[in-house]
Amino acid sequence: MKSQGVFIAFEGPDGAGTTTQIEYLKQFLMNAGLDCETFRQPSGGEIGQYLRQCLSGRVRFHSERHRDWVMGLLFAADRLCQSDQEIRPIIEGGTWALCDRYTLSSLVYQGADGLEDDIRQLNRFAPEPDILFYLDVPPEVALARVNARGQSKEIFETKDAIEQQVKRYRALIKTLPAARVHRLDGQKSIEAIHQEVCGAIQPFLERQ
Ligand code: TMP
Repeated sequence: MKSQGVFIAFEGPDGAGTTTQIEYLKQFLMNAGLDCETFRQPSGGEIGQYLRQCLSGRVRFHSERHRDWVMGLLFAADRLCQSDQEIRPIIEGGTWALCDRYTLSSLVYQGADGLEDDIRQLNRFAPEPDILFYLDVPPEVALARVNARGQSKEIFETKDAIEQQVKRYRALIKTLPAARVHRLDGQKSIEAIHQEVCGAIQPFLERQ
């Protein structure tokens, strides 16, 4: 019988390089003959599309706290729909699922100003990833990468927001179970980080 797939999430501030690492890992897994699918949050579904509008700044909120609460609710709903309808079924069928951002993003981006416990509650039904990779980069590096993209900026891609993200990621990551979380130095080369990722998933590969 085919064994269960593995659920892997990548996290990090804007500009950390999660999307690149996911593409590298997907290729690696497919070369190893494994079935693999990638996901991103916000999703491409209706709630995810509305969240993209919020991220672009086109949706107005009367305060930052109100925005954090509304977006926290929407991200949790988007995540639950995606995990229930797409991620969980493929994992049960033996496919590996790689997710670009997950619940930690909500705690970092929406959980400031005393909303952390509420955000945790909203996300309590989201399945835990088997492995969480956190790409750590200093705020100035993250900001330089975001600026280098030359695209129109989303609301969390400012200097102040990125400084806050890095601070919150670094604090929250320490509270998570060390066995599941791998901190990666996002300033290393893409290839060097990818090799560390491959090393960390080895025990799961051996179980397949
Ligand atoms: P990205 O697709 O470039 O990673 O952008 C997603 C943006 O959405 C990024 O700024 C982080 C933000 N975000 C949240 O604020 N809360 C969440 O729960 C998630 C998943 C993403």
